[in-house]
Amino acid sequence: MESRVMSSELWNAVAVVVVTFIGYQILNKVLWRGIWTPLRLRRIMVKQGVRGPPFRFPFGQVLEFVTFMNSFPEVVPLDSYADLSPTVTPQYALYYPQFPGAKYFLYWWGKTTRLCVRDPEIAKEVFINNHAHLKCAHLGDTYLMKGLIGRGLVALMGEKWSTERRAINPFFHQDALKGMVEAMVEGTATEIQKWEQIVAQAGGSAEIDIEADMHKISGRILSLTAFGTDSEKGFQVYETQTELAKEYYQMLRGVGFWIIPRYSDIPLKSHRHMRQMAKKIDTLLHEILDGRLEAVRKGVTNSYGNDLLGRMLTSAADGWSEGSPDFNLQSVIENSKLFYFAGQDTVANASLFTMLMLTLHPEWQDRARAEVMEVVGDEESFDASVLSRLKVVGMVVNETMRTFTIAPTMVRLTGKDLQLKNLFIPEGVVVEFSTNAVHQDKEYWGEDAAEFKPERFANGVAAACSHPQAFVPFGLGPKICIGNNFAMMELKIIVSKVLRRFQLLPSPNYKHHPCNVVVTRPKYGLPIILKAL
Ligand code: HEM
Ligand SMILES: *[C@@H]1O[C@H](CO)[C@@H](O)[C@H](O)[C@H]1NC(C)=O
Ligand SMILES: *[C@@H]1O[C@H](CO)[C@@H](O)[C@H](O)[C@H]1NC(C)=O
Repeated sequence: MESRVMSSELWNAVAVVVVTFIGYQILNKVLWRGIWTPLRLRRIMVKQGVRGPPFRFPFGQVLEFVTFMNSFPEVVPLDSYADLSPTVTPQYALYYPQFPGAKYFLYWWGKTTRLCVRDPEIAKEVFINNHAHLKCAHLGDTYLMKGLIGRGLVALMGEKWSTERRAINPFFHQDALKGMVEAMVEGTATEIQKWEQIVAQAGGSAEIDIEADMHKISGRILSLTAFGTDSEKGFQVYETQTELAKEYYQMLRGVGFWIIPRYSDIPLKSHRHMRQMAKKIDTLLHEILDGRLEAVRKGVTNSYGNDLLGRMLTSAADGWSEGSPDFNLQSVIENSKLFYFAGQDTVANASLFTMLMLTLHPEWQDRARAEVMEVVGDEESFDASVLSRLKVVGMVVNETMRTFTIAPTMVRLTGKDLQLKNLFIPEGVVVEFSTNAVHQDKEYWGEDAAEFKPERFANGVAAACSHPQAFVPFGLGPKICIGNNFAMMELKIIVSKVLRRFQLLPSPNYKHHPCNVVVTRPKYGLPIILKAL
């Protein structure tokens, strides 16, 4: 009898705790963060004349974007390729035209209030002048982001970020990059030889979907430059990451991820698999690192090596703590993951769009090839000075990155109220710089902004557009892409190697549909016709 009373009292207590907890969650998550905060931020912005669609609980404008994107046919017209925004960034295509002349508007990504900005001056004020008051605004999924992006530079701000950035910066200076040219050339060899064989067997001309091979080329180049003698194992890291990324993007496409908190912690088969792959990446990287540390400890060699990993190890402090302010061994692991993630899909997709533009603009293909033949010559002796003389190739690459902006948006969470010259942005708003809209804006690029015209870069970036922040394919401010020169060298080498061997022709089987999964990519691959020269 007594024990029954006890247990019912216990149950009451449990019920009170549970109800209080649920009540708190509802108050905090739904009422406070989900409704009150967006409405409060909206009021502050509207008072200043900022326009935008109404706030909708709980998804904001996300469902509208999905419907809008699904309204497009499988193949979108190629002749208007300059306007990426409908299929890549629906928020611009939907709302900028609704508020003609507006340089910014407000919308909601779920319950997050976003200020979309297409004014490079404001981008400069926020990303450069107010860098210290910004936070990262990432997708919430920490565990898997750990496997893919790593807790390296991209995910960091503040003290820890500046320590790491200072430690890593020198490895991406022109001097250091000079020593990587050879590895970059070597990294293109396998796939290009494969294409040569296919073309030869087919009697001099063949259609090849180069997407998967381009992905491998960029993975190989990173393996060779970052992991040098350990590049085989490095390539396994690359392969595992590629697989993990694929499953991760698959998960992003489902509804569960967006509505269930900590969705990836739910023990589904695919989630477990992703976790295993993230673990495998860590194990592989630890093996590579331990091997190098061991060799020096045992006196087999006195250097950690001259590749990116070796350079990082040389300057890293001992220790494995993620929380430590030092650039330590854990930082080396996290940034190694990051280089693969940040440096592979970006470069590979940029190279695909460059190839696409070369097939569609044979006059530029001929000019670029003529330059390559002259500058690189028959010896194929690439070095840093040869690359710096590839000007037409550089113009073509830049014009491609303007048109097909690989990172079409740049987002930051304001960690403090920001008072700009003409605008007040309260803490908690995410600023979204519309890079690809600015890259197409006639105000900064002239009436021919929608055309593919590499000649606009003939006298460099400053002469090509009227605002220094109107061309920012690699971002802007202190967190500008650390690999930007690395990427440009790599792209020049890939383009040169291909142009020396093949004539590139468009394929009737190409289905044009640029889309965005973290980076801008051609949705259905890139079949092109390669003809032996
Ligand atoms: C065409 C190729 C590439 C493009 C378009 C690109 C674009 C970008 C952009 C826009 C950012 C800034 C993101 C932000 O501030 O929110 C960034 C950051 C970064 N990128 Fe790249 N990237 C490319 C290639 C590479 C390569 C090859 C590497 C490394 C080998 C790399 C490593 C990084 C890192 C580490 C950061 C973070 C820097 C920091 O937060 O301090 N990227 N990239
Ligand atoms: C382009 O990027 C997407 C998404 O990041 C990736 O899945 C795809 O493999 C990339 N394409 C290439 C050629 O690497
Ligand atoms: C291409 O753009 C980069 C900046 O992303 C710049 O440093 C380089 O000079 C540009 N090259 C040409 C030919 O405009």
